[in-house]
Amino acid sequence: MVELLKVVGGGRLVGEVHVTGAKNSVLKLMAAALLAEGTTTLLDVPDILDVEIMAELLRRLGCEVSHNRIQSTVEICVPAVLDHRADYDLVRRMRASICVLGPLLARCGAAEVALPGGDNIGSRGLDMHVEGLIKLGAQAVNEHGYLIASSKQRLRGDLVYLDFPSVGATETILMAAVTALGTTVIDNVAREPEIIDICIMLNAMGAQISGLGTSTLTIDGVDALQPVTHRTVPDRIVAGTWAVAAVITQGDITIRNARAEHLQIALDKLVTAGAVVSILDDGFRVSMNQRPLAVDIVTLPYPGFPTDLQPQFIALNAIADGAALVTENLFEARFRFVQELARLGADVRTDGHHALVRGHQKLSGAPVEATDIRAGAGLVLAGLVAEGVTSVYGVSHIDRGYAGFVQDLQRLGADISRIEEDALKPQG
Ligand code: EPU
Repeated sequence: MVELLKVVGGGRLVGEVHVTGAKNSVLKLMAAALLAEGTTTLLDVPDILDVEIMAELLRRLGCEVSHNRIQSTVEICVPAVLDHRADYDLVRRMRASICVLGPLLARCGAAEVALPGGDNIGSRGLDMHVEGLIKLGAQAVNEHGYLIASSKQRLRGDLVYLDFPSVGATETILMAAVTALGTTVIDNVAREPEIIDICIMLNAMGAQISGLGTSTLTIDGVDALQPVTHRTVPDRIVAGTWAVAAVITQGDITIRNARAEHLQIALDKLVTAGAVVSILDDGFRVSMNQRPLAVDIVTLPYPGFPTDLQPQFIALNAIADGAALVTENLFEARFRFVQELARLGADVRTDGHHALVRGHQKLSGAPVEATDIRAGAGLVLAGLVAEGVTSVYGVSHIDRGYAGFVQDLQRLGADISRIEEDALKPQG
């Protein structure tokens, strides 16, 4: 049996949605819990597949993990002695498993994490993670498909420059440095809200990190951390996806538990496309009453335009008035999904890391395959405005990042259902 989303295009989306905590924060917060013996509790945890995979990974390291879906909490009970190996069967399901590397090295003096390899959005290097750990005094080798890092002595603070503000490398080095001897300065760090979130949690655990939200983090090493209770930052990519949903369907969506200041460029682009965005105390409202105008975008590390909203904006441009140039600077293969969008009649021509999208008044429903989380979201959005039925396969990708997506869409008035089908995947 194959699961798919059946989307019947046409209606406007109108109503309210509540955004949960961010996937790309909570996975790292769960890994950060490893740094303190005892019970850490995370609040506002999204009910997504990746949280389950991370919970399983922590259990295999020796933790007790309970996920309360009703209350959106995860409790992680971390023992005094941890196992330090993350196996390939879990890492291959979720690349973010690499975020246990730094905490395990800090806690156990050793970490063995299966190499995640590339994925459908491109090659995903780890060189900066490794170089940063070596700078702090660790040894690191690549053997039999595993990255093996170790340090006979406590890690030592040092000055680390990142070639590029990588989210993952910033997190790995940060989590390794919090209990290192002396001071670590990491320069050219990623400044994503999820990085600030992890710094806030680590500081509450007793870490001494300063420079939050800037390009330089200074970490004064401490001897040990204590467990805490921490609320996850809202998911700006989910909020941004709802904002695009309002615009593409010429609808009106109030997005609660969202921070407009984390989405400034994306919301500004939607205003350029013709939307009205009103800021509320606990979120924002996006309404649209005309065909959107095409908008150029250029993805960059935060506070630049997020790569994780690029496919949704390509879908928007596909039905917009005019043509738009989309430039992808983060992931080499993130345009792969446009071949699927083309099945709906989208006119997208790619050349290297540029895509020219010529807007057409209409798309027409067809079977399509989601190749990653955000491509899946982009395809569902396109399906909402395509004539007839769009069948989106590869639903597990969407489940990895969007909690209750189908139910929320239904509440907003979309004609969408999750069904199982006997047939194999659609023929290309
Ligand atoms: N890179 C290297 N070497 C490194 C580290 C990164 O070459 O040592 C390259 C990557 O190959 C990539 C670029 O740098 O081309 C950016 O990678 P980064 O490390 O910033 O990204 P990440 O930590 O792998 C996280 C999110 C992604 C999000 C990016 C950028 C998680 C679990 N993933 O990935 O989220 O797109 O930051 O904002 O936090 C998604 O949610 O759909 C998703 C892909």
